Order: sequence, then C-alpha cells, then structure tokens
Amino acid sequence: MPLPMTCYQERRTKLQQQIAQNSVVILRAGSLCTRNSDCYYEFRPHSSFLYLTGYKESDAYLVITNQESILFNLPKDPSKELWDGFRHGVDGAVQQFGFDLAFPLTQLPQKILDLLDSCHAVYSLFEDQELQQQIHAWQQTLVSKQRQGAKAPTKFIDITDTINEMRLIKDTHEIAIMEQAAQISVEAHKQAMMAAKVGMHEYELEAELNYTFMKSGARTPAYNNIVASGKNACVLHYIENDKKMQADDLVLIDAGCELDGYASDITCTFPVNGKFTSAQAALYAIVLEAQKAAIEQVKVGAQYVNFHDAALRVLTKGLVDLGLLQGEVDSLIDSKAYQPFYMHNTGHWLGLDVHDAGAYKLDGQSRPLQAGMVVTVEPGLYVAHDNYDVDEQWRGIGIRIEDDVLVTENGPYILTHGLAREIADIEALMAR
Ligand code: GLY
Ligand code: MN
Ligand code: MN
Repeated sequence: MPLPMTCYQERRTKLQQQIAQNSVVILRAGSLCTRNSDCYYEFRPHSSFLYLTGYKESDAYLVITNQESILFNLPKDPSKELWDGFRHGVDGAVQQFGFDLAFPLTQLPQKILDLLDSCHAVYSLFEDQELQQQIHAWQQTLVSKQRQGAKAPTKFIDITDTINEMRLIKDTHEIAIMEQAAQISVEAHKQAMMAAKVGMHEYELEAELNYTFMKSGARTPAYNNIVASGKNACVLHYIENDKKMQADDLVLIDAGCELDGYASDITCTFPVNGKFTSAQAALYAIVLEAQKAAIEQVKVGAQYVNFHDAALRVLTKGLVDLGLLQGEVDSLIDSKAYQPFYMHNTGHWLGLDVHDAGAYKLDGQSRPLQAGMVVTVEPGLYVAHDNYDVDEQWRGIGIRIEDDVLVTENGPYILTHGLAREIADIEALMAR
C-alpha cells in the first residue's frame, strides 16, 4: 500500500471517533465493471474506501463499529487466483492492512445482521445506490425477525461530508505522492510538446503521454486524456482524439496520471508547428496572465472563490482589450458577458479524485483556503468556430492553462512546476 499501514488505521480511528455510540459504518470498494462480453475494465476502488483502507481489490466491504474495523473480502482461492490473480485474503487483510478483523465476503450477510441488530445508526455513502439497496434489504430482514426479538435500525446517516472533510486536507505522505504524480505528468506534457508535428493524429500525442506515464510508474491516467487540436479545443470534454493536426492549429492537451490512487491534472496549449500566430499569442498571453493572477490568490485565509474572481477579471479585461467584448469590465463580469468565451470554473479540489471530495462553501459562503488543500488553477478562453460576433482571426481558438497548486503557510506551491508556460519557452522547447 502507498502509505504506512498506521496512516490508514489512524484515518479509521478518526472516523470512528465521529460516529454515535452503538453505530456502524459500511463502505464498499465496488465491483468489476463489464467492458464487453467477458472483458472487464481495470478495477479501481471507490476513493473514500481507498482512503480508509489502502486496499485495492474489488468486492470488499469495510465495516467500522465503535470498537473495531472489519474487512469482508474475497478469500484466498488457488483456482480463482490462477485465472484472475493474487488475493490478499482474510489473513492478509489483518496482517498487511491492519484491520482488527477480517471475514470472507460470503459471511457478510449473516455477520452484518448481527451488527445491525439493535444498533443506533447506520452510516454509509448515500451516493452508493447499490449499497443503499443492500442496507435496506438487511433492515427488512431484521424487521421480519422483530417478533423473535430482533431490532431493526431506524436511523440512516450519510457519512459523505465527514469523510470528504478528512480527504480535503492532505498530509505529508499524500503531498509527496501528489507532487510525484504531478512531476510525471509534467514530463509527459514535455514529451508530447517535443513530439508534436504537423499531420500527426491527436492520438499519437496521447501515446506519448501514456508512454511517459507508464514508464514512470503511473499505470493509468487519472481521467480520459484530452488531446484537442484546432476547434476541438473548444469542446471542453473532447476525448475522440482522432483528428489530424494542421499547421496553424493550437493543440490543447489536458492529461494527468494517477499515481498510487492520486490524480494530477495538467493542461498545456501549444502550436502544432511550434510557432504561435499573432492571434493565438494574444489570447494565450491573456490566459497566462489570468492564471498568474489566480495562483497568487491560492493562499491561506483567502476564500475559495477569490482565485476564480481574479482569473475572471484578467480574462474579461483581455477580451475587451482585444475587441472581443465591448463595455466596462465590472459590468461585463456582473452580466456574465464573458460566458461565450469562458464557461467553466477556474479550478477544483484535487486528490484521490480528479474533481476531489470536499465542500466549496460553508454555511453558504465560499470557504477559506487552508494549508494542505490542493486545487487546480485552470483559466481558459474558447472562441467557437461559428462565433460570427467576433473577427474571423479569433474563431476556433481554444486555450486552457492548468496547474496543480498546494496551499501552504508560505503561499501557493505549484506541484506541477517545471512546465514551459511562457510563449518564448514553449517555442524554444518545441524548436529543440
Ligand atoms: N481534466 C479535468 C479538469 O480539468 O477538470
Ligand atoms: Mn482540472
Ligand atoms: Mn484538466
């Protein structure tokens, strides 16, 4: 497991301390997902399950009571392991993952009834609908046994926010992994930038990314790679990645590896032929300036929304300066006139999930940033190819610049440091 076993044990204890007396927490890793026929997608546990266990096998349940943490998992089975691979089994769960108890999954239905009988409250993630159905069925079984003395639980509590608040502040182990993930992704973007050539398919650059991820020890991307040339860059979640890249195109690459469960998330935008046109350079310079202004706001005590607001101001002013918007910056911001060109937020939490767990508001107010939080800072500008309100030179240009930033007591720390960001640096790297 990526972190010392005691870290996971401490997390479970911390969670245990936040539940009511005589209560039970149930979390599920998840099951294999069919791709087609008898082929499955690679399994990846639910991030909160991973956070509390470090256990990566499918079909496991974590049960935390006031006294113990218990894993129900797939037991050792030589014939199954011959086909499908190694299992830690019940003893491995206790010895290597530090659970107080472990049982084969087949014993879950009976043992969970013993635990739920007469318990005060059942905590789970309400988003896990399959688990909700199971909990309901277990409750009904106990209801049917009431005349024999069983007492079905009546209180069901969503534990999402409690776990998410724990996940939101990263410890030193997590930060070290996230910086390593970030740096692998930095290298992947550099390799893609240097490999780009006119006439290549977008997926050929995707191959460069995946190659660097894997040879650096990161087995998978944290999300679907986006390699979007030309006007495809204006499709925010473009993942076809199958077009031929043209000489005067920019290419926007949004890609980050997952390392030990932790995501990185980087976007670079650069010219396929290594040289920005003047229109591309003008828009790029605004986005870069917006990113710099935003990153300055990633500091302890600033509100979460501050860095978005900082980016928005620079982007809107830049659009006015270039003649894509007309009017006064404040009122253009108030009326959201920038939205045809900038339609997403400037960032999100980053961690085990690329769009990581944690509330953005507390009591209706944008929350203050704290040391140990990680955000992405990703302003962009996108001019639709059919936006006939603007001069032709701007149409079909999409630009985003995205870095991963740790909040520290000493100000913003860019985990994705080392990327070529200035126009001159990008052109110099690509000329090599
Ligand atoms: N790569 C997804 C995002 O930037 O939010
Ligand atoms: Mn992002
Ligand atoms: Mn991204």
